[in-house]
Amino acid sequence: MRAGFLQFSPLFGEVKQNVDKAVSIISSQHADLIVLPELFSTGYQFISKKEAADLTEPVPSGYTTQRLITVSKDKNCYIVAGIAERNGDALFNSAVLTGPEGFIGVYRKIHLFYEETQWFLPGDAGLRVWETPIGNIGIMICFDWFFPEAARTLALKGADIIAHPANLVLPYCPDAMVTRCIENRVFAVTANRTGSEMRRDKEELKFIGMSEIVTPKGRILTRAGSEEEKCTVVEITVEEARNKNINQYNNIFDDRQKDFYYS
Ligand code: ACM
Repeated sequence: MRAGFLQFSPLFGEVKQNVDKAVSIISSQHADLIVLPELFSTGYQFISKKEAADLTEPVPSGYTTQRLITVSKDKNCYIVAGIAERNGDALFNSAVLTGPEGFIGVYRKIHLFYEETQWFLPGDAGLRVWETPIGNIGIMICFDWFFPEAARTLALKGADIIAHPANLVLPYCPDAMVTRCIENRVFAVTANRTGSEMRRDKEELKFIGMSEIVTPKGRILTRAGSEEEKCTVVEITVEEARNKNINQYNNIFDDRQKDFYYS
């Protein structure tokens, strides 16, 4: 199957423009799965809870999810995209999964980074994997990578591919995801953004790009530069993620020594 990411620099608060751009690029691709960055339709650096609330949308009835459903159906393509979600009074940093069949599900980021803690609630729906005709898709968002338990949980729940929308500012993740893939024998598609934001008197946040697709054996199939806007799609074989044997004696799940682990 063909999996890819769209790396670009969303304009803060310009939801329609950001969605138009993503939809137009997705429409020009031939892909089974495309992953978009975290908060791709709103931008990242909110300055108040009210501003965040005003930019959030209900899922799946909101504008952004509806546009993604339409392009998923038109292109026969699964999409994982980071959006700002409102559910009643609760705001979440979420990612929706849409496909040819329409809306499939939403993941709400559980490990909030820095000032996200001021606007969003930590996800209340756990880490989830969706079985689809193109493979089992698990979702985590950006800083979730810092907690190996997140990727491990998705792998134990049967994920073949971890779709990983991101707005990375620290430098570690692109290399660290190689380890996440090796230790869980899964594919990962990290879709990061580029550009920078410096709203009002806040410090500048510079996003590192370097979106990538990594195999279960830790091979980086493709990695974008730190500044370019780019949509890359590559061929992957999801079955490679289903063999958890390292050799005839070692299986990464069966060999876990859970009695000795601290939780
Ligand atoms: C992040 O979680 N956006 C760094």
